[in-house]
Amino acid sequence: MFRDEDATMAMELAADPYVPTVGTLPANASQGEALAWVQRQRQHHIRGTGFAFSIADSESDRCLGQIGLFTRELGKGRAQAGYAVSPAARGRGVAAGALLGLLDFGWTIPELHRVELYIEPWNSASVRSAENAGFTREGLLRGHQEIAGVRRDMLIFAALREV
Ligand SMILES: CC(C)(COP(=O)(O)OP(=O)(O)OC[C@H]1O[C@@H](n2cnc3c(N)ncnc32)[C@H](O)[C@@H]1OP(=O)(O)O)[C@@H](O)C(=O)NCCC(=O)NCCS
Repeated sequence: MFRDEDATMAMELAADPYVPTVGTLPANASQGEALAWVQRQRQHHIRGTGFAFSIADSESDRCLGQIGLFTRELGKGRAQAGYAVSPAARGRGVAAGALLGLLDFGWTIPELHRVELYIEPWNSASVRSAENAGFTREGLLRGHQEIAGVRRDMLIFAALREV
């Protein structure tokens, strides 16, 4: 779970040009805006919209990023995952490791059968992270959603519960 002190990492994420376009973290967030975002992460499971986790370094326990499992479609056996790693912590496979941990958690939810990722085709680091965590690329969804005011194609990846 996120701790208030993780607002420092959130401020680093808010300096990334892409992250603020796909979530609720304001671009170049102030300390107060970053803290409010951290506090919103803790509300997902209370509101029943999913689970948002701080990705912690296994040695230092320092917050390296965020990963979430969003469960609005849980009634249909599906959930969507999203993730972001602080720019300073990139380049060592943090997202793939966090995705594997998220799947371990997800499969403890009996109703869940399928975890989906929606990734823009240009986002090679995210594509590789998905593949490294064992997700399968299923196709391209054309004009699937609007990001920063532009309709975007999205690749869909999924992991299925092993039966
Ligand atoms: C996507 C993201 C989470 C990956 O961070 P990370 O875990 O540090 O990923 P890494 O830098 O370790 O790279 C993971 C893989 O992608 C590859 N990769 C990274 N950048 C790449 C690039 N520009 N082009 C091609 N491959 C790239 C790496 O070589 C590595 O592959 P490998 O392990 O097979 O060698 C991070 O870039 C991020 O937070 N981006 C902004 C938010 C975002 O895009 N979230 C995902 C939305 S779908």
